[in-house]
Amino acid sequence: MLQIEGSATHGGGFAAVGLQPVAGAMPQADTLPRDPAAAMAALVPASAPAQLRRVNVADKRIINGQTDVNQLVPFKYKWAWEKYLSACANHWMPQEIQMSRDIALWKDPNGLTEDERRLIKRNLGFFVTADSLAANNIVLGTYRHITAPECRQYLLRQAFEEAIHTHAYQYIVESLGLDEGEVFNAYHEIASIRDKDEFLIPFIDTLTNPQFRTGTQDADQKLLKSLIVFACIMEGLFFYVGFVQILALGRQNKMSGAAEQYQYILRDESMHCNFGIDLINQIKMENPHLWTPEFREEIRELMRKAVDLEYRYAEDTMPRGVLGLNAPMFKEYLRYIANRRCQQIGIDPMFEGATNPFPWMSEMTDLKKERNFFETRVIEYQTGGALSWD
Ligand SMILES: [Fe+2]
Ligand SMILES: [Fe+2]
Repeated sequence: MLQIEGSATHGGGFAAVGLQPVAGAMPQADTLPRDPAAAMAALVPASAPAQLRRVNVADKRIINGQTDVNQLVPFKYKWAWEKYLSACANHWMPQEIQMSRDIALWKDPNGLTEDERRLIKRNLGFFVTADSLAANNIVLGTYRHITAPECRQYLLRQAFEEAIHTHAYQYIVESLGLDEGEVFNAYHEIASIRDKDEFLIPFIDTLTNPQFRTGTQDADQKLLKSLIVFACIMEGLFFYVGFVQILALGRQNKMSGAAEQYQYILRDESMHCNFGIDLINQIKMENPHLWTPEFREEIRELMRKAVDLEYRYAEDTMPRGVLGLNAPMFKEYLRYIANRRCQQIGIDPMFEGATNPFPWMSEMTDLKKERNFFETRVIEYQTGGALSWD
């Protein structure tokens, strides 16, 4: 039987499950016939032709839309559909990547320094749970508040990619024979990791709270804020110290299998971040009343706090210089990324003159250029040039 929840005046209601609100009397869900076709007929009374109206592209909205979410076409948000196609073209699986050299290096007592081992364990300690948080945020939160089916289509693909990322981190932990209890509990036990997660969780809780409904200024600002935190801070900032660290190991021909996995993950994540930014900017365009000076100041404050938390994570994972990297380099890098994220959503840059100390990172999303870099098997699924980052 169809489950109908919510109120027709809120985005989380009928439109979110694919049934448009009907003027006049609506049968209660618990009085509907058992047969699905009969139940649908009962929900679409002949006296309400608006129910059967074809979707008009101009009526589609990213949030609080009232058009049928089951009708993908006509397309309004082609950028979302194109990102869905690119993401599918980038498909990869963790087991396709050869880990034997990493295993040999990890088992060799002289293969890696203690600082390098600490860095790898702390790095995985953050990521093994971060992508589960990301997946839950999409599936239990974001998805139901977005009323554009093109965007939902991308979110479904993104959710699967988050599962692949969790799989990749688990696969590395298992391949290296790391202490699973230690790595998977790091988000409880290591302060610099716990603090990042604790910063994120209230924003995820907002979206996943079953009582939360969009449709008011306050609720829509909460949604927008959570989307910004997720795309620009979690995926767009909190992942980057970790990505640089493992890719820097790969550039020194260490942990080349793990580095290759991270390279694929970085490519996916840069698309998640770009999709999130497009989504945020489209919501802003459709709902300019949400983008108040107070709201923008709140976002800047969150960004400042996030840079600080990520910098503390950098210090904790690299108490001394390692791999030619040191924590102060990351201060500059994080400021550079924060400026970029602010600029991408229309907020003034916050850190005057910050530059990128790791220009090689921006090439990492383009596997075509780098395909011989790690001398391991790289499967090139992607043929288009749709990937861009910074
Ligand atoms: Fe991910
Ligand atoms: Fe992601």
